[in-house]
Amino acid sequence: MFLGIDLGTSSVKSVLMDAEQQILASHSAALDVSRPQDGWSEQNPSDWISAIEQTLDALRQSHPKELSAVRGIGLSGHMHGATLLDDQDQVIRPCMLWNDTRSQAQAQRLDTPQFRQIGGNILFPGFTAPKVAWVAEHEADNFARLAKVLLPKDYVRLWLTGEHVGDMSDAAGTGWLNVAKRCWSDELLQATGLSQQHMPRLVEGTQVSGQLRTALATRYGMLNSVVVAGGAGDNAASACGMGTVADGDAFISLGTSGVLFAANDSYQPNAQSAVHAFCHALPDTWHQMGVILAATDALNWLAKAMKSTPQALSSPLDSRRAEPTDVIFLPYLGGERTPINDTDARGVFMGLKHSTDADEMTRAVLQGVAFAFKDSQLALQSAGSTLKRAAAIGGGAKSDYWLRVIANTLNIPLDIPLDGDFGASLGAARLGMIAAEQADPLSVCTAPLIERTVEPDGSSAAFAEQFERYHATYEALAPIMR
Ligand code: XUL
Repeated sequence: MFLGIDLGTSSVKSVLMDAEQQILASHSAALDVSRPQDGWSEQNPSDWISAIEQTLDALRQSHPKELSAVRGIGLSGHMHGATLLDDQDQVIRPCMLWNDTRSQAQAQRLDTPQFRQIGGNILFPGFTAPKVAWVAEHEADNFARLAKVLLPKDYVRLWLTGEHVGDMSDAAGTGWLNVAKRCWSDELLQATGLSQQHMPRLVEGTQVSGQLRTALATRYGMLNSVVVAGGAGDNAASACGMGTVADGDAFISLGTSGVLFAANDSYQPNAQSAVHAFCHALPDTWHQMGVILAATDALNWLAKAMKSTPQALSSPLDSRRAEPTDVIFLPYLGGERTPINDTDARGVFMGLKHSTDADEMTRAVLQGVAFAFKDSQLALQSAGSTLKRAAAIGGGAKSDYWLRVIANTLNIPLDIPLDGDFGASLGAARLGMIAAEQADPLSVCTAPLIERTVEPDGSSAAFAEQFERYHATYEALAPIMR
């Protein structure tokens, strides 16, 4: 039996998986994001642990026998967050998350040819290094206490095992990793006043990172000695869950963030396109991805503003044909990464008229996110990955209308997996299984059964026309967004 724990931005999900890779049970617990100022986004690490405890307590209630048979645990988590610890492993300040853009000035200063060359990426404000530089400049007392920087899922590992360990896929999103060589870069750490002492030891996602602490094994009735695998950042973990591991395989993730992900069998950086080039969770493999900061978050925003729910807004559209609207929406509610790397960009509705109703505004939002994905598709193409099809996962993939809009906009078929809900947590459980059983990664990380495929159905040219207006809208408004 294996356990996968996915620390998502809006919830934790823990799943129990058997040796045949069947998910036997799954429990989730909600998490909040605090936004004390525009552009800030934080969580308290203690809330992650409470949420994980809730899910594990629920598993102990519902499946005590299976939980006691767990042999391997895998971890997945939202990437880039700066979890700052003192020399007693106490959390110094709330974790600044992947969509926190306050460190724009520090990112701009550090985004040098050296960072791009070794790190393989633009040093986006969302990455970990500029956040720590922001703390050094604005919270000198906190910086003085800093003993270790951990990524969110690695803080969970510290709770599970008592060890400071990170994995390559997540470490690639800090800005401090030599992504080609899969090791910390002394030069890049020094540029932010740190050294390898501040960093966790690194393992591959498939390797053992430590053993579950006895106190926790006893609490959850686990009888075996339980290993914790390196695990992965949530996108590489989803890829392991979806079998997106061979060169050219791809998925689109409609979560809080939006990700268009392509697996690569070699390291293919192309920083200026704003494509992220990171280590994959399997040894000696890499991946590229375009990242948009608000995917379901854009629909969540509209639902909140309209005192409605995302589902109430989107489900009436499912019976409609996917056609573009000339109401343009820019989904840049908290800035954007791929392709514009613009923290000042903000959301825009353009072209509202007397007849615009809630349905049309919802269509505009879903279309705006689809256009943001189109930008990522073009960026991946310029970085050498031309997608022929993609699996669609994440909460947003429950909207049939949205999937059809995206299939037409990207002009590729989207495969909807039977177990799309489990992407990252299944991937985590698989990494736990590989580490515990010394199993062959490729024979474990296979593609799930496809429930159905959403094909482009004739509106691609019409969407392409509105995509031009979407671009023109941003170009025209960008100068006055600052
Ligand atoms: C990836 C990214 C997000 C987070 C949250 O670069 O910032 O996808 O991992 O899911």
